[in-house]
Amino acid sequence: MLSMTGAYEFIDRLVRQLKERRQWASRNRVSCFRVYDREDVGFPFLIDLYEDRLVWSVLTENDADEVPEDLFALASEATGISRAKFHIKTRQKQHGKEQYTKVAEDQEMLVVREGGLKFLVNLTDYLDTGLFLDHRWTRSYVRDLSAGMKVLNLFAYTGSFTVYAVHGGAFETTTLDLSQNYLDWAKKNLELNDLAGSRHRFVRRDVMEYLRTETKPRFDVIVLDPPTFSNSKKMDGTLDIQRDHPELITRCLKLLNPEGVLVFSNNFQKFRLDTAALPPCGIKEVTSFTLPKDFKKTAHRSWLISPLGAPELTLKKLELS
Ligand SMILES: C[S@@+](CC[C@H](N)C(=O)[O-])C[C@H]1O[C@@H](n2cnc3c(N)ncnc32)[C@H](O)[C@@H]1O
Repeated sequence: MLSMTGAYEFIDRLVRQLKERRQWASRNRVSCFRVYDREDVGFPFLIDLYEDRLVWSVLTENDADEVPEDLFALASEATGISRAKFHIKTRQKQHGKEQYTKVAEDQEMLVVREGGLKFLVNLTDYLDTGLFLDHRWTRSYVRDLSAGMKVLNLFAYTGSFTVYAVHGGAFETTTLDLSQNYLDWAKKNLELNDLAGSRHRFVRRDVMEYLRTETKPRFDVIVLDPPTFSNSKKMDGTLDIQRDHPELITRCLKLLNPEGVLVFSNNFQKFRLDTAALPPCGIKEVTSFTLPKDFKKTAHRSWLISPLGAPELTLKKLELS
């Protein structure tokens, strides 16, 4: 049971951050953002707003921990968001594994907006909603890179990078994931934005198996944003980003045209890029450009990697304020 000590200070902070970030979000054309990022030890929460709904993740030590119903009631009253619009999830703090199993079967999809585009999210059935909010600026950079390009989106999940790439004028895209369910979702996201077409392919395959069989350079932009760990039954062995990133990056570089760019990212908190294990290539860390201000500094790290020298991109800070 969480201590209620400091509950009122917490609620005050929640209300203040919600107000400030709503204003910031409307200036930045987003309708979904992080409101609270586990700042207080006594209040280990991740709280996100999706349109008018709050997705409130309680970080627990183990499954038996209770959720703080009293606090939800206070928060509902103080924010004016009805308790029925709170989506409560529990996440284990030290969970090393993927958390993609279904937690409900409601199948209720909500449309949210970001960067002039629309995305389908599901706030009830999974721990993750279908849109990783910390990557909104990474997606924006991918859009900027994509005009006339052939784009490969690996570990594509619901295809949000693909939607941005096509919106940015990608000539063709390949969206690859192990899960047919997520690929169908990705297709719907493209359709929702009137961006679907025959040059945009969806491939259900294990990324490692795909990269080991495809060897010819034919992409201009590759997005590689894998989970920290995966042990899906649909693939051989396991994926461990710390162990496997040199092979993943090396194989992606082989698929890139000489002027191409790999956008690599992950959210493993202790991640170290093993540059010594990579072939000669240009590497530029761009985390300070891709991390939005509603997220903690450790939400993700990102790099641009190219077969030639360091990518000559002029990156601009995207946040207005
Ligand atoms: C962390 S999400 C990727 C997030 C995504 N890049 C985005 O920005 O929305 C993990 C995704 O990787 C997929 N996945 C996990 N292991 C895979 C594998 N070996 N090959 C292909 N896809 C895999 C899962 O099905 C899931 O959709």
